[in-house]
Amino acid sequence: MARRRQHASLLLCAVLASLVAGSTAGIYHIVGAGKGWRMPPNKTYYDDWARTKHISIGDKLMFLYRSGAHNIVEVPSRILFDACSMRNITNRYQNGPTIIELTEPGQRYYFCGVGEHCEVGQKLAINVSNVAAPLPPDDDDDDDAPNAAGAASHRLIHPAGLVAACLVHALLLLRAV
Ligand SMILES: *[C@@H]1O[C@H](CO)[C@@H](O)[C@H](O)[C@H]1NC(C)=O
Ligand SMILES: *[C@@H]1O[C@H](CO)[C@@H](O)[C@H](O)[C@H]1NC(C)=O
Ligand SMILES: *[C@@H]1O[C@H](CO)[C@@H](O)[C@H](O)[C@H]1NC(C)=O
Repeated sequence: MARRRQHASLLLCAVLASLVAGSTAGIYHIVGAGKGWRMPPNKTYYDDWARTKHISIGDKLMFLYRSGAHNIVEVPSRILFDACSMRNITNRYQNGPTIIELTEPGQRYYFCGVGEHCEVGQKLAINVSNVAAPLPPDDDDDDDAPNAAGAASHRLIHPAGLVAACLVHALLLLRAV
């Protein structure tokens, strides 16, 4: 009996802890939603995708692509980005899928360095905000990673406090056994 409660309690703690981890780790944004990272149907596809997102520090960009078919290069300026120029690459990723954690605010410029992929619109410019998305969360629950809904919703509570309370409770149960 007590053992079951203890188990349930620890399980709850684990769930809460994962939610907290999710919140400090930020939201996962799947670049291009269902299409992933590929040559888009038109030149504004990734722009349109980015426009609907609130991307902030601690969030992660998830580029879904097959190694060899596509890659990601990062360039430091809008000019290089607009020109699809690989003259001054600051980062290169080629083992898909790639997850990039955004640790600084400001503009970031990515494109695919394979063939003419950038020229046809496989390019993404984002502006990383230093503040989290305001509540209510924007409409990106439908196409983001599974923990996005959790990450958005548990901003409503104080997860760290809950986990602490939960652990104290579990420890008390543990000593009672
Ligand atoms: C680009 O393609 C997307 C997806 O097929 C579509 O929703 C969007 O309307 C298109 N935009 C233009 C400007 O054609
Ligand atoms: C290349 O990038 C570095 C920063 O990574 C910057 O200091 C430099 O000015 C850039 N050069 C050009 C030509 O964009
Ligand atoms: C990026 O976002 C910040 C606010 O978060 C804004 O002040 C800045 O002008 C934006 N930059 C661009 C190029 O849109």
